[in-house]
Amino acid sequence: METKRLTPADAAAAARVISSGGLLGIPTETVYGLGANGLDEAAVGAIFAAKGRPQDNPLILHVPDDGWLERYCGDIPAVAYALADQFWPGPLTMILRRKPLVPDAVTAGLDTVGMRCPDCAVTREIIALAGVPVAAPSGNASGRPSPTTAAAMLEDMDGKIDAIVDAGPCQVGVESTIVDLTVTPPRLLRPGGVTLEELEDALGEVAVDEAVRRLMAPGEQPKAPGMKYRHYAPQAPVTVVKGDPDETAGYIVARMGDKSGVICFDEYAGYFRGHLVEAIGPAADQAQQARRIFDALRAFDRADVNDIWAQSPTDTGLGLAVTNRLNKAAGFHIIEL
Ligand code: TXA
Ligand code: MG
Repeated sequence: METKRLTPADAAAAARVISSGGLLGIPTETVYGLGANGLDEAAVGAIFAAKGRPQDNPLILHVPDDGWLERYCGDIPAVAYALADQFWPGPLTMILRRKPLVPDAVTAGLDTVGMRCPDCAVTREIIALAGVPVAAPSGNASGRPSPTTAAAMLEDMDGKIDAIVDAGPCQVGVESTIVDLTVTPPRLLRPGGVTLEELEDALGEVAVDEAVRRLMAPGEQPKAPGMKYRHYAPQAPVTVVKGDPDETAGYIVARMGDKSGVICFDEYAGYFRGHLVEAIGPAADQAQQARRIFDALRAFDRADVNDIWAQSPTDTGLGLAVTNRLNKAAGFHIIEL
């Protein structure tokens, strides 16, 4: 099929793609998503086919405001509305009990469903016009880094989706924070644009799922099924080096080969001349690192590199999300200096 390029002025045409059971690339503040009518089993099935996504990995539903929660969720705790007040629209997905009308294809048979209200006006408008929740995983082929521009999504999805709405580069750059509100205390399943510290301020105690910080052994089940898959990975193997940035830069320079690529902070780009260098922002600018990390990982697949070295950001604030994506890309191959 030919994939139509739409702009934010084409919300009505985009909504018709959703209403007619098609696949639509949607912009959000986090990453581009691969959207379809979340109440239509066949359309949801087409998402899995286009991505090559394992069927046991559930999708999240996107809604235009928290007034839609009770259509699809039951036993909604008061904290869900408190979090929605504080963080929606924004990069927070809440896991809640689902109502029976949410198809099993969306939830992979779980009795819960992830709900998110994206901070992107055109996408909320499209959902409201279509009148149905939009199921949308990140718009990458399964296993590849998530797309933060329409062009990156088309690298994976051109010809496989009906249309894409190009609203420019994503402002956050890593996927939403996922918090499970069906357990006590609430549990962070995936770090993202809303930080753990912000959640703790709002909720008090927050448990952190083990899959956030380490590799799951074969057979172990993280609470967010998607966290178990090899993910975000360029073809060449990635090694993450943790420690003081001066020391990690020196360590990498001493060990890299002719065909090594490097992910580094802007201040260190000059150390690695002659190599493919992806500078992800100043060492102190976590927001910039979050916006750049997926694009940096994608760049290595367009080049001829044997291996990739990365200076590790710190893991506080937004850095927890950045280091989680980088560590997953490295298969948790991490050297601590
Ligand atoms: O920022 C985002 O969340 C983006 C944009 C497009 O909204 N979407 C996104 O979707 O990242 P996806 O499918 O790539 O990641 C959703 C994650 C997966 O790891 C999945 O396993 C988990 O959410 N998930 C979905 N439903 C769940 C549930 N009921 N319980 C636990 N985890 C769930
Ligand atoms: Mg994804």
